[in-house]
Amino acid sequence: MGGFFGFLWNQLFFKPKPLEASISLEGKTILITGANFGLGLETARELAARKPSRLIFGVRDVKKGEAAKELIQKTSPTVEIDVWTLDYNSYDSLVNFASRVATVDHLDYALLNAGIKMMEYQVSDGGHETNVRINHLGTSLLSLLLLPTLQTSAKVTGKPCHLTIVSSEGHFWVPFHERTAPKILARMNEKETFGTAMQRYYTSKLLNVLWTRELASKVNDKQVRINTVNPGFCYSGLHRHESTGVIKIVLWLFGWTTEQGGHCLADALIEHDDSHGEYLSLQRTMRPSDFVASEEGKAVQKRIWKETIALLKEEAPSARIPTFDD
Ligand SMILES: NC(=O)c1ccc[n+]([C@@H]2O[C@H](COP(=O)([O-])OP(=O)(O)OC[C@H]3O[C@@H](n4cnc5c(N)ncnc54)[C@H](OP(=O)(O)O)[C@@H]3O)[C@@H](O)[C@H]2O)c1
Repeated sequence: MGGFFGFLWNQLFFKPKPLEASISLEGKTILITGANFGLGLETARELAARKPSRLIFGVRDVKKGEAAKELIQKTSPTVEIDVWTLDYNSYDSLVNFASRVATVDHLDYALLNAGIKMMEYQVSDGGHETNVRINHLGTSLLSLLLLPTLQTSAKVTGKPCHLTIVSSEGHFWVPFHERTAPKILARMNEKETFGTAMQRYYTSKLLNVLWTRELASKVNDKQVRINTVNPGFCYSGLHRHESTGVIKIVLWLFGWTTEQGGHCLADALIEHDDSHGEYLSLQRTMRPSDFVASEEGKAVQKRIWKETIALLKEEAPSARIPTFDD
């Protein structure tokens, strides 16, 4: 069952499962952004139990990250956890974080999970609307900066690494009127385009889907498997800016636990070795929205890629953005 009723149905009747008991992550290094709270924390907890050699937490508040580390090490004491500072709202922070990650022996899995849902128009660094700045520009730049480390790791380990970007089923539900503007991202900075309620947040998650697909199309899947995942509608800190109380009711009726959302992210990151450029939902590969799959969606995907690369080159000159064949 598709559409919004399909979403409600799945929220009621699909039960996300943890990773199979037989899966071991021994010897693996795993990076998770936004691991201090919500779905990132639950994913980290689940993965830590599979005994990877090292977890790297990218967090904007190191104290909160250290608290999460302490919590996880109570049940998984042998896992080494590094808590490194990372703010998606600062290009310098993203560049410094990626440089630090580049010093590790190898990086097997990277989950770009950090994100926000701002329900009111706010301008962030560089004059960008905040959902776009954090969820799209921050995530996209980090994906580019981590790519060389993942590609080198694949050569060292002889196995493809996984890069997974957290998006949302909400990408199905937005009109995305800005797509017809001469400059889509610049248009999204204008207040009048913000839309109502969660429209802009969901549009930023649509950008995550488009970005993932275009990035994957440019990267050799023998080196890095790149996918995007919908964690489902879950309890977490994400909904804190919703003041009407409606979300609380919908969560109470249909929401999954944070742990169940973590199961979906753990599954998307670790399993699906044969997927590349795919949208994962309900712990399997699914068709993304009709718009994403359409010819228009594919053309917009390329425009978003070009605009984003140009913008990042201009606004983050210290970032070494890899070159790709077009
Ligand atoms: N929960 C859902 O129903 C749902 C549904 C679909 C998709 N998602 C996606 O799932 C991902 C995780 O969200 P969540 O539900 O777990 O929300 P959450 O509980 O609010 O956690 C978000 C995480 O992202 C971090 N973060 C926010 N802004 C950041 C920044 N500028 N730099 C670095 N880290 C930042 C937060 O750090 P602080 O603690 O410092 O704020 C926190 O660790 C997001 O990408 C979200 O869009 C969630």
